Order: sequence, then C-alpha cells, then structure tokens
Amino acid sequence: MVHRCRTLQSILLLFLIGTLLPPSTAFAPHQRTAIARTSLSAQPTPRRFDPSYKKKPPVFNKSTSLWEPSDETEPEPYGPFGSFLRGGPSPFLVRVFQPSQYDQAVFKYMAQTSCSRAEAQGNMDAYFNNAADWTYQKMQEANGRPVIDYTQLKLKDAILVITWALFVTPFLGRCGYLIAFGDKGWGIGLSDVFNI
Ligand SMILES: *[C@@H]1O[C@H](CO)[C@@H](O)[C@H](O)[C@H]1NC(C)=O
Repeated sequence: MVHRCRTLQSILLLFLIGTLLPPSTAFAPHQRTAIARTSLSAQPTPRRFDPSYKKKPPVFNKSTSLWEPSDETEPEPYGPFGSFLRGGPSPFLVRVFQPSQYDQAVFKYMAQTSCSRAEAQGNMDAYFNNAADWTYQKMQEANGRPVIDYTQLKLKDAILVITWALFVTPFLGRCGYLIAFGDKGWGIGLSDVFNI
C-alpha cells in the first residue's frame, strides 16, 4: 500500500518537473543556480525593457515597511490567470494565496527599474516560476545582452502551461476522487487511476 503510494508520488513528481521546466533549465539547473547564488550580493540594478514609461514609481513607506503604488501607478494589467499563462502554476499560486507578497515584489521592481506595472508583473511571474533562471538572465542583461520582454505572453509558454493544466489537473482530480470515494483510499495504484 505504502509502496504504491510512493510510486504514484514519484511519477507525479517527475511528470510535474518534466512539464514545468523548459528544456534549457532541465539540463543545466545546477550550473545556473550556482552562478546566480554567487552574484546575488553584488547584483546590479536590472535594466528595464521599455524606456518610454514615465510614470512616478511606487514608494517605500517606512512606517509600514511596505511598498505603496504612487498616485500615477496604473491598475494591475492582468490577473492571476495571466500570470498562470506566463509563468505557470507558481506565480499563479503566489497571486492567489499571497497577493500582497506578489504586489510588494511588483512595486519594488517598479521602483528599482522605473518600469511599468506590466513589465514588473512579467518579470515577477518569471521570477516566481524560476528564480535562478530569471537572475541568470538579469546578469546576462547587465553584461550587455539584450533585455528580454517578459510582458509579452509567449505562445510556447502558454501552450506548455495549458497542456500541463489539461493533463495534470484531471489526473490529480481523479486521484483525489479515488482516494476520497474509492474503496482503497490512499492505497490506489496507477492501474486504478487509468482504469477509467
Ligand atoms: C505610510 O503608511 C501609513 C499607515 O498606512 C500612512 O498613515 C502614511 O500616510 C504613509 N506614509 C506615506 C509617506 O505615504
């Protein structure tokens, strides 16, 4: 019974990791993480993608220790589902369960780089999806590489995420259903799950 559960868990985990990570991160995660870690202390201020944005950036309120939008800061350009399509389940979950943490990250990034809220959200979606990769990219940009437009919704990312949702969600749903209402409870195996 325990063994079956473990198998199910491992397969699920592998499946999640395989579908979530873009191929580039799957092959060199350690290298990238190492590079990102060593340089965190001396990180340069990121450059913004759109230099035409002119609105007053958010400000840090010392009495509350929170970033506050300025009176010119625009409302959020897209909701949690937009984050889901850009960065997958991680930024989506951050926005649903810790909305203020997400907004704080967005306002701080806007203040640091004087960028638009859309650009900051795109960057934070990428950050919450894979912090090491995002940091690595920012270092590349600091060294003269072109700045990536994280605001734009890339078709490839969206397809990856939708595929993930279409296949994994029903799979998890069926597991949950079998565990809750099946006669085996937590003892379900793969054969039960796929014996639809
Ligand atoms: C900081 O936050 C406090 C409490 O919400 C508020 O009363 C104060 O006006 C804010 N300060 C600034 C500079 O916005």
